Amino acid sequence: MDKTTLDLTTAQEEALASLDQAQDEAGLQQWRNTVLGRKGWISEALKGLGKLPPAERPMMGQRVNEVKTRLEAAYDQAEARLKAQALAASLASEAVDVTLPGRPAGLGGLHLTTRTIREMCAIFADMGFQVYRSPNVETDDLNFTLLNLPPHHPARDMQDTFHVKGNEGRVVLRTQTSPGQIRAMREYHPEPIRIVVPGMVFRYEQVTVRSEMQFHQVEGLAVGKHITMADLKGTIRNFAARFFGSQYDVRFRPSYFPFTEPSMEVDIECIVCGGVGCRICKHSGWLEILGSGMVHPDVLRNGGYDPDIYSGFAWGMGVERPAILKYRIDDIRLFYANDLRFLEQYA
Ligand code: DAH
Repeated sequence: MDKTTLDLTTAQEEALASLDQAQDEAGLQQWRNTVLGRKGWISEALKGLGKLPPAERPMMGQRVNEVKTRLEAAYDQAEARLKAQALAASLASEAVDVTLPGRPAGLGGLHLTTRTIREMCAIFADMGFQVYRSPNVETDDLNFTLLNLPPHHPARDMQDTFHVKGNEGRVVLRTQTSPGQIRAMREYHPEPIRIVVPGMVFRYEQVTVRSEMQFHQVEGLAVGKHITMADLKGTIRNFAARFFGSQYDVRFRPSYFPFTEPSMEVDIECIVCGGVGCRICKHSGWLEILGSGMVHPDVLRNGGYDPDIYSGFAWGMGVERPAILKYRIDDIRLFYANDLRFLEQYA
């Protein structure tokens, strides 16, 4: 169509009217192509100027350019209008009520194991024991041999062991916190020692409601010049009274551990039945809480202390088991199940 022969004013009005109809980006583009595009009618009109008699060209040219400018401006306006509409629509659909109160962030809490370890350490700290840290991954020597458990000693069978690959089997996940005793003695000798060693221990065992493969212990060690079994008994009695309550009696039973001589196991009166006998205490009225004894002369020697001059006592106590008794929890696996309904009760 040869626009130069048409009434440009009419064409402009039609174009403006159809621009008003454009409802979206696609409509706008289509309008632009037919009107302002390279093949749109404005271009055609400009091309058609050449066919006009030379005298008419300047006037017609100026007129086409006026229309072009006017339509370009209209296009910009329409584009801005559509953008504003789209923005308004998305603001309306994504509206946020900024006056709503925020959701309270949950407060974290301590795991029952952590709380129990801290409580135990705090009680021993009152008796002068400092916390000593000892690694989770340990050499066979420190975990066993230096504690009087040489290779092939039958007592090693009491603690099935995770070995770390390679290292000729000499590196293990510690099966007990007792290697902390050797480390502390070697670090502090010939000073007197009073330490507790809290931490995780690992045993390659069947997981049941009463035992996990991975659990915690709090080891204790006192070394000095006049330490006797009375000190051990007093320390443990005081601990039991504060941790479980002074109404429960404590008893010391002869036992065997390679690193202590003599050795004792310590029982507390069943806190579930009060000593009468129940399912939990297997009708004995007593619950075992720890192993202990006077540090074996060989172990003192391995730590650098002369057993003719120094003596000491030690104990090894679980963390989860006493917590289970204290809080009457019926399944040790809850400690590792990460169930907030359980954990929040103690946080
Ligand atoms: N290490 C022993 C265990 O894990 C517990 C133990 C018993 C530690 C007697 C001691 C001790 O320090 O004297 O079974």
